[in-house]
This record gives sequence, C-alpha cells and structure tokens, in this order.
Amino acid sequence: MLPNANMIPLAIVGLVVTAIVGFVVIVLAVSWFSNPPFGLGDAPAQPIAFPHTVHAGAPEEGGMGIDCAFCHRNVTKGAAATVPAVENCVFCHGQINAENAVDRTQVSVDLDEIQRVVDRFHDDNPIDWERVHRLPDHVRFVHEAHIRFLTSGPERTVSLPMGTGDPVDLPMPAGETCSVCHGDVAGMTEVQPQAGQSLKMGTCVDCHRELNAATDCTICHK
Ligand code: HEC
Ligand code: HEC
Ligand code: HEC
Ligand code: HEC
Ligand code: HEC
Repeated sequence: MLPNANMIPLAIVGLVVTAIVGFVVIVLAVSWFSNPPFGLGDAPAQPIAFPHTVHAGAPEEGGMGIDCAFCHRNVTKGAAATVPAVENCVFCHGQINAENAVDRTQVSVDLDEIQRVVDRFHDDNPIDWERVHRLPDHVRFVHEAHIRFLTSGPERTVSLPMGTGDPVDLPMPAGETCSVCHGDVAGMTEVQPQAGQSLKMGTCVDCHRELNAATDCTICHK
C-alpha cells in the first residue's frame, strides 16, 4: 500500500508534539532540581553542623548575637550575601577549641565539630557549604537594593505579602531585614527555607507591586 498522503504531515505533527512534550519535561525537570519547591522542611546536609543559634542567637537565649553581616559580609554591598570562608571561622576557633578548652561543664558544645573546622583550615581544605536558597540562573536578585530599601527612607508602615502578613514599620535596623525573606535564621540550628517566605516569582512580584518597585520581566530576568 502506498503511504497515505495524510500520514506524512501526521508524522511531522507527531515529531513536533514529541519535541514540545520533551522540552516541557526537561524544563520542568531542570527547574525542579535547580529550584526545589519550598516548604518541604528538608535542610540540605551540611559538611559541618554549623548552628546559627549558637552564633547569631540572642544572648538571652544562650547565643552570641553576632551580627549577620559579620559573616555574610557582602550582603549590604552587592548581589550575593556570601557565606564566610573557613578563615573567618578560625578567627575565633583558632582559640575556641578543644585544645584551649576552658571549663565547659556549663554548656554542651560539640568540640569534635569545632575540631573539624580547625582541621579544614590547617589542611587547606575549604568547606563547600550546600546552598539552601538558590534561584534559577535566569533570575537576577540583588541583596544590596533590598537591604537599602528596607533600612532607609521616611518612617512608614507597609504590608508585606509574606511571613505573617502583619504590617511592618520602615525603616528597620539592617539586622532585622533578613527575617523578611529568610525567617528567624538566628533561631535555627539548620537553615531551612520558610514556607511563608517561599522566594517564588509570585512572592517577588507581589512585594514589588506592594512597594511600587518595578515589575517588568527584564528587571528580574536576564
Ligand atoms: C566571633 C567568634 C566566632 C566565629 C567567627 C565563629 N564561631 Fe563557632 N563558636 C563560637 C563560640 C564562642 C562557640 C561556643 C563554644 C563554647 O561555648 O565553648 C562556637 C561554637 C561552634 C560550634 C559548636 C556548636 C555546638 O553547639 O556544638 C561549631 C560547629 C562552630 N562554632 C562552627 C563555626 C564555623 C563553621 C564558623 C565559621 C563559619 C564559626 N563557628 C565562626 C565562636 C565563633
Ligand atoms: C559566624 C558566622 C555566621 C553568622 C554570624 C551568621 N551566619 Fe548565616 N551562615 C553562616 C554559614 C557558615 C552558612 C552556611 C551553612 C548553613 O547554611 O548553615 C550560613 C548560611 C546562611 C543562610 C543560608 C544560605 C543559603 O545557602 O541559602 C542564610 C539565609 C543565613 N545564613 C542568614 C543569616 C542571618 C539572617 C544571620 C543573622 C541573624 C546570619 N546568617 C548570621 C555563617 C553565619
Ligand atoms: C528581599 C528578600 C531578601 C532579603 C531581605 C534578604 N535575602 Fe538573602 N536571599 C534572598 C534570595 C532570593 C536568595 C537567593 C539568591 C540567589 O539564588 O541568587 C538569598 C540568598 C542568601 C544567601 C545565600 C547566597 C548568597 O547570596 O550568598 C545568604 C547567605 C543570605 N541570603 C543572607 C541574607 C542576610 C544575612 C540578609 C539580611 C542582611 C538577607 N539575606 C536578606 C532574599 C533575601
Ligand atoms: C520585601 C519586598 C520585596 C521582595 C520579597 C522582593 N523584592 Fe525585589 N525589590 C523590592 C524593592 C522595594 C525594590 C526597589 C529598591 C529600590 O528602589 O532601590 C526591589 C528591587 C529589585 C531589583 C532591582 C535591583 C537593582 O539593581 O536596583 C531586582 C532585580 C529585584 N528586586 C529582584 C527580586 C527578586 C528576584 C525577588 C524574589 C526572589 C525579589 N526581588 C523579592 C522589594 C522586594
Ligand atoms: C520581581 C522579580 C520577577 C519579575 C518582575 C518577573 N519574574 Fe519571572 N521569575 C522570578 C523568579 C524568582 C522565578 C523563579 C522562581 C519560580 O519559578 O517561581 C521566576 C520564574 C519565571 C518562569 C519559570 C521558569 C522556571 O524556571 O520554571 C517564567 C516563565 C517567568 N518567570 C516569566 C516571567 C515573565 C514573562 C515576567 C514578566 C511578565 C516575569 N517572569 C517577571 C522573578 C520575577
């Protein structure tokens, strides 16, 4: 039998449909792995168990209250906040470790974990922290612009479409701005993305609209 004249276009349609479905599946797979849905409550396993509670937690809760920007040095200056290199850790842990143990009967501290930090430094073996928040590569985000906006300008009260949704007074101290998007990191033993603060496109755009910031696609997409 001769091929039906209709079969050739059909075959082409079939190929096109397969290509489109394949493309969609790949895009979904890529966005799933590069940007897993938030709110699952699973923090990635870190190479060192670094507790924000001990370092950044409030002194009345047994923490040291170290300023976020002491470690995330770039957060008020540029796009990425940056995570500290092991050199910053040994700034303190060169002294605060098992060898120089003072009476630690009052506190339970994992000295082995601290020793692993010091060993990393001596072995010249950087700590490759797992990223907790990561936007897909086609999205642009700048910490500096957000911190500047939240910490400056006239006194005003705004409603942010995230977290509790309660009105927030601006300007706020720099150290409080982080919780707008990341939740109470100082109270976390493991940093976890917060369900109410999922940094999905909808959240970004809602906040931009609320605060009269630009919402053109090209602001956020390169
Ligand atoms: C400003 C000083 C300072 C800096 C900087 C610092 N730490 Fe600490 N860290 C401490 C102190 C103080 C303790 C509590 C030790 C104690 O009470 O004996 C501690 C405790 C720890 C513990 C044990 C926690 C526990 O509860 O068992 C780990 C792990 C640790 N630090 C890792 C790090 C890492 C990794 C860095 C770098 C990213 C770092 N620290 C930077 C001062 C610091
Ligand atoms: C002593 C240093 C230190 C201080 C102080 C500190 N951090 Fe961190 N932070 C780290 C390290 C190390 C990591 C990477 C390991 C992890 O994710 O727990 C990190 C990770 C994070 C992350 C997740 C980054 C990602 O991969 O998405 C956020 C958000 C964060 N910190 C916010 C804060 C905030 C907010 C404060 C202040 C309340 C703060 N940090 C204070 C050292 C510090
Ligand atoms: C307007 C929302 C927002 C605010 C406010 C904010 N962050 Fe972030 N943060 C993000 C987003 C979105 C990412 C993921 C960026 C990416 O993947 O490019 C991120 C990533 C990070 C990271 C990991 C990657 C990096 O940038 O190096 C750290 C650490 C961090 N933030 C710390 C902080 C600290 C500390 C503050 C407060 C001084 C803060 N953030 C305030 C939204 C925010
Ligand atoms: C808390 C509210 C809020 C959230 C949440 C927020 N933004 Fe913004 N963003 C702003 C405001 C306000 C400005 C304008 C700042 C200014 O005018 O200086 C801005 C500015 C920007 C800019 C322009 C920065 C520059 O170069 O001047 C980019 C890009 C951006 N936001 C991306 C994002 C992305 C991506 C997200 C989500 C991951 C996000 N924003 C979430 C409030 C927010
Ligand atoms: C304020 C920042 C912001 C603006 C404005 C914005 N986007 Fe997005 N967009 C994001 C973020 C963040 C993501 C990644 C997180 C997500 O998938 O929700 C995203 C994801 C996407 C995706 C999905 C890609 C994927 O990885 O699955 C598409 C498509 C998209 N944006 C198109 C647009 C278009 C079209 C516009 C203009 C009408 C626009 N965006 C405006 C922040 C923004």
